[in-house]
Amino acid sequence: MKKRPLIAGNWKMYKTASEAVTLVQTLKAAAHTVSNVTIVICPPFTALSEVSKVLKDTEIHLGAQNMYSAPEGAFTGEISPTMLKDSGCRYVILGHSERRQYFKEDDILIHEKVKTALKYSLIPIVCVGETLAEREAKKHFDVVKTQFDDSIGGLEKEDISKVVIAYEPVWAIGTGKTATPDQAEQMHSYIRRLLNERYGQEIGNRIPLLYGGSVKPDNTKSLMEKPNIDGALVGGASLKAESFAQIIQEAQQTYESGNQS
Ligand code: PGA
Repeated sequence: MKKRPLIAGNWKMYKTASEAVTLVQTLKAAAHTVSNVTIVICPPFTALSEVSKVLKDTEIHLGAQNMYSAPEGAFTGEISPTMLKDSGCRYVILGHSERRQYFKEDDILIHEKVKTALKYSLIPIVCVGETLAEREAKKHFDVVKTQFDDSIGGLEKEDISKVVIAYEPVWAIGTGKTATPDQAEQMHSYIRRLLNERYGQEIGNRIPLLYGGSVKPDNTKSLMEKPNIDGALVGGASLKAESFAQIIQEAQQTYESGNQS
């Protein structure tokens, strides 16, 4: 049995509040018929409250793209979990490779953020993934294991059960170069093994593992058919209602046909 897919849109630093409202209104209409997919959209902070109003009475969830690890304090320029909750968020992306690469976030900080998110009942979508150089040096499994161990591997059972993990190979993000379904599945089954070894199969098998990196309508099906790919974290293709809605439809169809056979 496949899990109900989770499709999350990461809008990155795109869309003003009014542009975000327009996009989400179109998406809301397009996703009207979807019942078997958990949909999450993660606009920039400045659009969260406005988008949250549009999402009221819908099944689409709101998420943020980052958060600081303290609930409040003198941390100029940062955003707290209570602020995100107040803006209507249920999810938060943590440890995205762009945060790691450009803002020097490391696994120790990401681990603190994950614990804070859980404490404030936000569902963290924790990103892991290797660079091209690391893959070419055949270190990709080691890199992902270290990220896993240091950012989430220390969590207790009741906490890990609330986490979503996204495998996003850095070389596939925004490049149009998707990992092949086999490459993605290989890493997903490795992460599943790490989870199962640490937390037991019952919990390990329940945790949603998303793939991210140039997910598009035409590659969604082949990725989603893989046994350990439970959804997608979509960047560029989530900025247009039409392509994001198509990805959601593809995920729904793959899930429904997979569970019929
Ligand atoms: P992309 O981004 O779909 O544009 O490759 C994915 C991400 O960074 O989450």
